[in-house]
Amino acid sequence: MGNKNVYIETYGCQMNVSDSEVVASIMQEAGYTMTDRLSSANVALINTCAVRDNAEQRVWGRLYVFKQQKRRNPSLLVGMLGCMAERLKEDLFDKGLVDIVAGPDAYRDLPNLVQQAANGQKAINVLLSREETYADIAPVRMDANGVAAFVSIMRGCNNVCTYCVVPYTRGGERSRNPDTIVREIRELVARGYKEVTLLGQNVDSYRWTEGSEASRTVTFARLLELVAQVSPALRVRFATSHPKDMSNGVLYTMAMYPNICDHIHLPVQSGSTRMLELMNRKYTRDEYLQRIAKIREIIPQCAISTDIIAGFCSETQEDHEATLSLMRDVAFDYAFMFQYSERPNTKAARHFKDDVPAEEKKRRLTEIIALHNELSLKNNEKEIGQTQEVLVEGVSKRSEDELFGRTPQNKVVVFPKRQHRIGDYVQVKIIRCSSATLIGEAASPPAPQSPAGEQGSYAPEGATINSKGQRPVIK
Ligand code: 5AD
Ligand code: SF4
Repeated sequence: MGNKNVYIETYGCQMNVSDSEVVASIMQEAGYTMTDRLSSANVALINTCAVRDNAEQRVWGRLYVFKQQKRRNPSLLVGMLGCMAERLKEDLFDKGLVDIVAGPDAYRDLPNLVQQAANGQKAINVLLSREETYADIAPVRMDANGVAAFVSIMRGCNNVCTYCVVPYTRGGERSRNPDTIVREIRELVARGYKEVTLLGQNVDSYRWTEGSEASRTVTFARLLELVAQVSPALRVRFATSHPKDMSNGVLYTMAMYPNICDHIHLPVQSGSTRMLELMNRKYTRDEYLQRIAKIREIIPQCAISTDIIAGFCSETQEDHEATLSLMRDVAFDYAFMFQYSERPNTKAARHFKDDVPAEEKKRRLTEIIALHNELSLKNNEKEIGQTQEVLVEGVSKRSEDELFGRTPQNKVVVFPKRQHRIGDYVQVKIIRCSSATLIGEAASPPAPQSPAGEQGSYAPEGATINSKGQRPVIK
């Protein structure tokens, strides 16, 4: 075993997956080799999430596992990265479980920090930056399939949703130079990638201005267009959109380019205007519904997904019912649903009482999940009999003889493998479904060259066009 093997485990959002790829690049550049086995690591890194308490508890659980490995290999150095590192800072050393602490803007310093820790010093860098976007670093792709990649287009968040810890752990918002984004995506296409997901906490506020006279301003709509133009065979996704900022320009750009997928992740959080105000979301229930109406007008078959929080401070049964009724109005295609978890030092923790009892939060969440499953099953049933273009991402977990992939609407489809391969675009006829998955049969031989069957044309489709990753979408 060499003495420069780095193992990295990633928790939380897609942004963390993307950050771990940047970390791998930085460590390789410094002479380290990545390993996927903790047992052969000299440095074990854990990239963490602080958005809810249970995300942090999982990380603590893993740190005890790392500690056992340290008993077998006493020179193993353990480093905590990401949002928990930023939130807990120095205190992380108290339990004797970590040797290195690096916040989200400190990854360039990691090789130094590892060196310091190897010399027996406390190694910590949790400085947040106003500029860091890691724009010049070519991420080392750690996904197994070589089909779909995440590309960070911005970092941080300037919204202060009262429940959310992200602005404190990831700092202020900054956009990445669009030239470096397009270059990275061209390289991915040259290596055979078929899909990119542009990532940011709030992609609609992406903005790049060059020159003192603002001679060139690139908005998110323009960036989306630049990326869609890289190759007609490249599927383009993005997340997360903010209901207060999502412009019609983005919707028209989606409608113009068949290779921009018909899916928008638009977290609502609550259906009650009173709750939305307490959450500082800066839109009302009606304004959210107007955004949805606009999406449906411009892109009728667009899938819409969301995030919902149950049991935020002072939420009444009436507020909860407003969430249920909004869910019925919108019928989200998928949703990430959570019970409120108070995060230290957020505005809500400082100013509001976390007064919905745990049992009641759980009850409301269960009701929200049950309704969502019912509505998404109905949505999926509408797909039966239709043929969808599926980009194959891998072999199904259930059977070696089945493949899985996604439709432009981001719905997971499982179908018999036959002659099809990972990375193919396959026309699949949907024959059955559950609330989470579509089951189909390939309806045609592979057509690998083009999304939406469009043979590379950019002809606008008018009103009729079109995250992968482990769990939670963003943030
Ligand atoms: N408690 C519960 N859910 C939260 N989220 C963010 N902060 C909290 C919290 N304190 C949810 C929001 C956000 C998603 C990524 O996580 O729904 O959109
Ligand atoms: Fe920013 Fe999203 Fe957190 Fe709001 S919920 S503060 S938009 S990261």
